[in-house]
Amino acid sequence: MEAGGRCDAGKQQQHLVCLPFPAQGHVNPMLKFAILLHHRGFHITFVNTEYNHRRLLRARHSLHGFPGFQFKTIPDGLSSPQDGDEEANCTQDVRSLCDSTSKHCLAPFLRLLSDLNSSPGVPPVTCVVSDNIMSFGLVAAEEIGVAGVSFRPTTACSFFCNALLQRFRQKGLIPLKDSNGGIGDSDRVLADFDVPGISTSIRLRDLPTYARISNEVNTFIMSFINTETKRALTKASAIIFHTLDSLEHDTLESLSAMCPPIYPIAPLHLLIDQLPDHGSLKFLGANLWKEDLSCLQWLDSKAPSSVVYVNFGSVTVITQRQLMEFAWGLAKSEQNFLWVVRSDGVMGEESSNSALPGEFYEETKGRGIVVRWCPQERVLKHRSTGAFLTHCGWNSMMESISSGVPMICWPFFADQHLNCRLACAEWGVGVEIESEVDRDEVEKVVREVMDGGEKGEEMKVKARELKRKAEEAVGLGGSSHLILDQLVKNVFSVLEPVSKA
Ligand code: UDX
Repeated sequence: MEAGGRCDAGKQQQHLVCLPFPAQGHVNPMLKFAILLHHRGFHITFVNTEYNHRRLLRARHSLHGFPGFQFKTIPDGLSSPQDGDEEANCTQDVRSLCDSTSKHCLAPFLRLLSDLNSSPGVPPVTCVVSDNIMSFGLVAAEEIGVAGVSFRPTTACSFFCNALLQRFRQKGLIPLKDSNGGIGDSDRVLADFDVPGISTSIRLRDLPTYARISNEVNTFIMSFINTETKRALTKASAIIFHTLDSLEHDTLESLSAMCPPIYPIAPLHLLIDQLPDHGSLKFLGANLWKEDLSCLQWLDSKAPSSVVYVNFGSVTVITQRQLMEFAWGLAKSEQNFLWVVRSDGVMGEESSNSALPGEFYEETKGRGIVVRWCPQERVLKHRSTGAFLTHCGWNSMMESISSGVPMICWPFFADQHLNCRLACAEWGVGVEIESEVDRDEVEKVVREVMDGGEKGEEMKVKARELKRKAEEAVGLGGSSHLILDQLVKNVFSVLEPVSKA
């Protein structure tokens, strides 16, 4: 082992197989993590589904020509209408993906591992790094006799809650009886129910959607999450969280008592920024939609911190009514805005931009633009971006925190309500919009954050503090570097390959 935790030059190269869940918010952080490990001397095979691989190629990524880093594919098991339809470019249904990957992907993945192990010139596989909801990767690792590591692109808090869901259910706390927003148990904090170590502000209503609301889809997802969480706890040699120790110190400490060794490493994009420009995969992106770069020039033309950036991520689909409430709320706020509306982001609309009326464009001319997909990290780092109206996907939040941008939170599903609560109640960098969004509230909250009032100013100060913490973590001797070194040294560099076929 060299200083800095690089792969030993004299030894046979370790070969890590990285397996993200096939959705944008999972592929992005896993790719960054894989690039960091490649830079430290590991051979990497990055496994996408065939559908996502085609989308990546269409988004103009070149996926060849990186020595020691290769892309491979497995089918996702969905007999989706997208197969054979080269024009389809949309997020797949999450429930169907969970169902299908868990039932159908183990066999093709094992075949892939076997092929890798018989490929000339490729070192034998030594570890599978498996997304936290792709636990068949851990099963496959066990089957071929190599280590499995679980990669969690979300908060430690959400993993902790997932690990406790069965207990909450046994206590009769979930599903919520007043899940439609009424007060009652849903407003009680988890700490009231003898849950040591959980962040004190988390309420029952902040738990993931699938835990709070009982229906057929959520019953399936609860059971799926339960299996995935159990496997991470029992089969993984280590669990990696894309989080900062300084953000979630207490939760991480509580988790470490019940988990395999845990490694909080973040923000991954800032670690990538530090790689040398030449000879690394630093600029390789994983966006499944083509980025519209014109918004960067538009941002250049605006005053510092004068633009509200609006983006609800890769999965959220909003209704026509919600689209109109956000549109007229933004219009009435009189602020500049950059709004990303995905082509598949509005219910029942093929092309979401055309769903916005001409009067809206007239009213906001010169101070607002709407695009379909943007280079988000660059937008958040841009000096003109003053606030982020977000769905609270964890990558978006991590990118916002790293850029010191306060958030207006409109959580949609899964872990996003928890993330929202952490941002608003624990870290003081967010303010929430109620789920039944209306234009007056959007206007009020946008003004509150942008107009220099007391609350907005407080959030900006806190956002700058968190940015400093993120920078410290990736600075010289920072926690993320140290923990990545430990991970490489304690987990990846001591792995033994199975003998080649
Ligand atoms: C999903 C879940 O919704 C989220 O809660 C979970 O934490 C991860 O998976 P998603 O909707 O994809 O997330 O949002 P997010 O986690 O924010 O990831 C989106 C990624 O796409 C970010 O890295 C963001 O930078 C990128 N992006 C998004 C762009 O580059 N451009 C865009 O226009 C939109």
